[in-house]
Amino acid sequence: MNTNQGFKKGFLWGGATAANQIEGAYLEGGKGLSTSDFAAYKDPYASGTVNNFTFNVTSSELEEYTKHSESYLFPKRWGIDFYHHYKEDIALFAEMGFKCFRLSISWARIFPTGLENEPNEEGLAFYDAVFDECAKYGIEPLVTMSHYEMPIALTKKYNGWISRELVPLFEKYAKVILERYKNKVRYWITFNEMNMNLNSLYTGAGVLEDLVENSLEAAYQASHHQFLASALAVKAAKAIVPNVEIGCMINQIEAYAHTTKPEDQLQAVKSNQLNMFYPDVQARGYYPSYIYSYFAENNLTIDSKAEDIEILKNGTVDFVAISYYMSHVAEAREDASKLAGTFDSPIKNEYLELSQWDWPIDPIGLRISLLKLYDRFQKPLFVCENGLGAKDILTEDKKIHDEYRIDYMRKHIQQMREAVKEGVDLMGYTPWGCIDLISCGTSQMSKRYGFIYVDQDDTGKGSLERYRKDSFYWYKEVIASNGETV
Ligand code: BG6
Repeated sequence: MNTNQGFKKGFLWGGATAANQIEGAYLEGGKGLSTSDFAAYKDPYASGTVNNFTFNVTSSELEEYTKHSESYLFPKRWGIDFYHHYKEDIALFAEMGFKCFRLSISWARIFPTGLENEPNEEGLAFYDAVFDECAKYGIEPLVTMSHYEMPIALTKKYNGWISRELVPLFEKYAKVILERYKNKVRYWITFNEMNMNLNSLYTGAGVLEDLVENSLEAAYQASHHQFLASALAVKAAKAIVPNVEIGCMINQIEAYAHTTKPEDQLQAVKSNQLNMFYPDVQARGYYPSYIYSYFAENNLTIDSKAEDIEILKNGTVDFVAISYYMSHVAEAREDASKLAGTFDSPIKNEYLELSQWDWPIDPIGLRISLLKLYDRFQKPLFVCENGLGAKDILTEDKKIHDEYRIDYMRKHIQQMREAVKEGVDLMGYTPWGCIDLISCGTSQMSKRYGFIYVDQDDTGKGSLERYRKDSFYWYKEVIASNGETV
């Protein structure tokens, strides 16, 4: 009998970040340069577009940015200076009542080029200090091993994850951090949103797309290597970390059929399969049959070895984590397979409002996603990202009245709670950018997600003072009531 009344005891309420979007100190503590250090800011306000994506970098841009870095702005190099503010920031998270803090480790802080035999002790010590600070307040870290960055040396030498050489290099990195933090970190995610390789090969896999012949094939080849690396990391985690819980993660974008026309319905099934391919492999331990027909239809050949079957089988995850920002619309049309699983869809859902960055807002889509994912995997789920990117105004008396964010969060949490009542086993909720940070997609500071305002503009100017927004106090109550006040 289903007796679920709401979020379970011990539900992991918290917030999420990523190293490349908060840390800054891009050359301190022995850190090497990483791919995200080369995401140059392109002023969207000047170009008149809402989303001027800085996702992709070409080989000539990389050369130019390396030679003339002083002529560009690279906001992910300064982040919000969490590297020097982590004590203050974690204290604010604790004040909100966080039970969990999702962060990532920068691979280039631990292995500056990815190729060293010995890790960088200063990098390891930094995360020790961060985890100790969390422990002081009883906050569980949820650590992503790879969140949209890797040593740039691996892009230059191997063109990123297109090369199988990265698998043992990542395994070495994973084993080092698992061993080092085995008594401090119980919850892990291997790769952030691996399905986004289909949108941005550079951000997701460190691949310079202009150097590959077929970018779709390259995306699946890089993904194959990441699947192997992830499975090997999962296997290592189970051997090293007591009581470990390790998950995979995708950017969950549920596709609705545009009409009841069977062709549109079929396209929605196919679009969703392309997204589900990622957790299917990581949660079940093998490639699902539908992907082979997709590869054949699109003439894609993915290199693999016989041993890969065993590697995938032995590295299945304990839970499935998602980020959730929007739903999509699928329609039977010429370019349908190209649009499937992508971030930016030209087909609009007339029933949904858009954010200031044109992202459709769909709280019910979160509930639908959770119900479907739980049906499919029967494994615990984790909503490890969700939130509203919006422009905030700091008033003269240093307040931020972000009722629009409260409204967004409330509706999403309500739907999440309904899904839990309907039987979904949900481990936790860590909304994105719990403290304002640099946007991944556009490298803007002005696209803010946080409960905590950080005084800094798109060009890196500002006092870096932290201010509590109205949503800070609201979320604190939500956590204190275990989600009952929403
Ligand atoms: C997710 C990423 O896709 O979306 C985060 O994991 C990212 O890194 C978040 O920041 C929001 O996207 P953006 O482009 O608004 O920063």
